[in-house]
Amino acid sequence: RARAIVKEIEEKCETPIAKLQLVADDMMAEMHAGLADEGGSKLKMLITYVNNLPTGHEKGLFYALDLGGTNFRVIRVQLGGKEQGVVKQEAEEVSIPPHLMVGSSHVCETLELFDFIAKRLAKFIASESEEFKLPEGRQRELGFTFSFPVRQISLASGTLIKWTKGFSIEETVHSFHLFFINAHISLQVGEDVVAELNKAIERQGLDLHVTALVNDTVGTLAGGRYYDNDVHASVILGTGTNAAYVERADAIPKWHGLLPKSGEMVINMEWGNFVSSHLPLTEYDLSLDAESLNPGEQIFEKLISGMYLGEILRRVLLKLAKEASLFGDIVPPKLSIPFILRTPHMSSMHHDTSSDLRAVASKLKDVLEITNTTLKTRKMVVEICDIIIKRGARLSAAGMVGILKKQGRDSGEKQRFVIAVDGGLFEHYTLFRECLEGSLAEILGTEVASFVIITHANDGSGIGAALIAASNSQYSLVET
Ligand code: BG6
Ligand code: GLC
Repeated sequence: RARAIVKEIEEKCETPIAKLQLVADDMMAEMHAGLADEGGSKLKMLITYVNNLPTGHEKGLFYALDLGGTNFRVIRVQLGGKEQGVVKQEAEEVSIPPHLMVGSSHVCETLELFDFIAKRLAKFIASESEEFKLPEGRQRELGFTFSFPVRQISLASGTLIKWTKGFSIEETVHSFHLFFINAHISLQVGEDVVAELNKAIERQGLDLHVTALVNDTVGTLAGGRYYDNDVHASVILGTGTNAAYVERADAIPKWHGLLPKSGEMVINMEWGNFVSSHLPLTEYDLSLDAESLNPGEQIFEKLISGMYLGEILRRVLLKLAKEASLFGDIVPPKLSIPFILRTPHMSSMHHDTSSDLRAVASKLKDVLEITNTTLKTRKMVVEICDIIIKRGARLSAAGMVGILKKQGRDSGEKQRFVIAVDGGLFEHYTLFRECLEGSLAEILGTEVASFVIITHANDGSGIGAALIAASNSQYSLVET
């Protein structure tokens, strides 16, 4: 019985090249539709107002806040122009629990999330040395990476379209604790993100100007471009997944503003919300979606990203426990707890190279309190990890090919097309990353694929936001 269940998942998750091509074609078609008009597609294809990417000539001191991944960061970057590049970069990091927890016996203070981050920023600035003092009358400038879908009105303002990745959804106000602070999010859908941040910054008495509001994909694209002129797109594979790329401004029918001097505009695709009839959805995906905080939304993300892969695995194991007694006569109680099995747990089981699969045994024990598994059972767990990860990685590759197709770069133009990639899944899940790279070559063919380069833009989005703030500074600090 167990074998039959696994065989069925394997078949349902299959992604032969022909299917991936269809997914890529659909991605391209949806990109066109999303660019044509607002609401034209599930792909929002958001206009970012970023039309001049960093050139490397930026100079001066800039700050960034980075909110929306596993970690919240405050960043300071000292830029020294073409000669010196990034002179100094410092960051402070606070991890945000993936599952927003309510209450804690340790809580000693309750704060609104934006007050919390403004407070960290104020502390960061207060502790900096004399070398970072700005000349009299000059304001500090900051780029804000906010990794959620935002409808921008200008480079430095925009309203929240929806929460994703389990953050506060619609009207409900979520609480979670950051260290000893119980933070709650009061930002609602439709509200101006920068206005709320500014209010919190003012409450801290900081004299600071928010110059740019950017998605993490856009920050990653800018960070990548700073080091390499051939970076034309970026992808985040982390808690969530998304992509951004550089589009010709005259190829965006829904853009009615003036054409920017550069002739270009960065588009935040919000590809997590992509859907296609060719996506290989299983019963596990359908139930995960139906029971999620955002049913019917972010379907591509739910097949690919770090927030969901471990949960898909849990659902499969639960079925095997219930219907094939995979772990004995009793269904292990922990296995019924949603999101208990995280993608990092899955990763360490999947990468277990020991002959008796010791890491698998220990994760099953530590996380799910499942003991005494046979080697055969552990092998089956690894096999399921493999099926789920391959599907996610191959679909990500198909998404990238969709962008290449849209830009006419999938058929042998002998020019580099670099995609800057960041996010915990890409960074830490080696088998995911290898499968993604291999699949890209498989779909494109080795000749074309040799011009498509994937680079890891570590922490690119924070520094990218600072760089966009620099390129759009109110002071003329850019070298000419
Ligand atoms: C980081 C960015 O580089 O990648 C974040 O600075 C982004 O803003 C993140 O959200 C994605 O990674 P993860 O794995 O923490 O979701
Ligand atoms: C989610 C967000 C998106 C973000 C991505 C990666 O999909 O909606 O804005 O870029 O996660 O962090």
